[in-house]
Amino acid sequence: MDIKLVILVHVLGATIWTGGHLVLALGVLPDALRRRDPSSVAAFEARFERLGIPALLVQIASGLWLAHRYLPDPARWFAFDSSLAAHIGAKLILLALTLALAVHARVRLVPRLGPENLNTLAYHIIAVTVLAVLLVVMGVGIRAGGWI
Ligand code: HEM
Repeated sequence: MDIKLVILVHVLGATIWTGGHLVLALGVLPDALRRRDPSSVAAFEARFERLGIPALLVQIASGLWLAHRYLPDPARWFAFDSSLAAHIGAKLILLALTLALAVHARVRLVPRLGPENLNTLAYHIIAVTVLAVLLVVMGVGIRAGGWI
């Protein structure tokens, strides 16, 4: 497959996943917290899910493809023995944290959403958004010379 196409798909997926979470965290959540009413968050999530989950799956597939292209031996993805390996390892740790939070939210939080667990939901949204931004930061670092 053409690497340019894979990077393009990866960056488009990032705009949806990270952009959607920034809109949720900065555009929808503050108002829900002020009104102590999670319904606007629930409505946004119900709509965003249909785009966001496929986007995350695309990120995982295209990200693993790119990682394999740059470092063909997956053992090196966790070796942290070069700047490139460190960025890929960091991205995989950020992805694992994202998946753990997403599963927890889906199984525990979203089914019984109400004013009483709004704060927990808010911490979740903020954490997933910070992780999403860090995935972009680490991704850009790979091409731009490396943060670490
Ligand atoms: C929601 C999850 C993710 C987001 C938002 C994201 C975002 C990004 C962004 C914005 C870039 C910069 C592209 C560029 O400068 O060309 C990038 C690059 C990259 N990402 Fe991800 N990424 C995600 C998941 C992953 C995963 C799971 C991996 C697997 C290790 C991965 C591996 C890479 C690699 C190897 C690059 C370098 C591509 C290149 O610049 O040639 N990403 N990512």
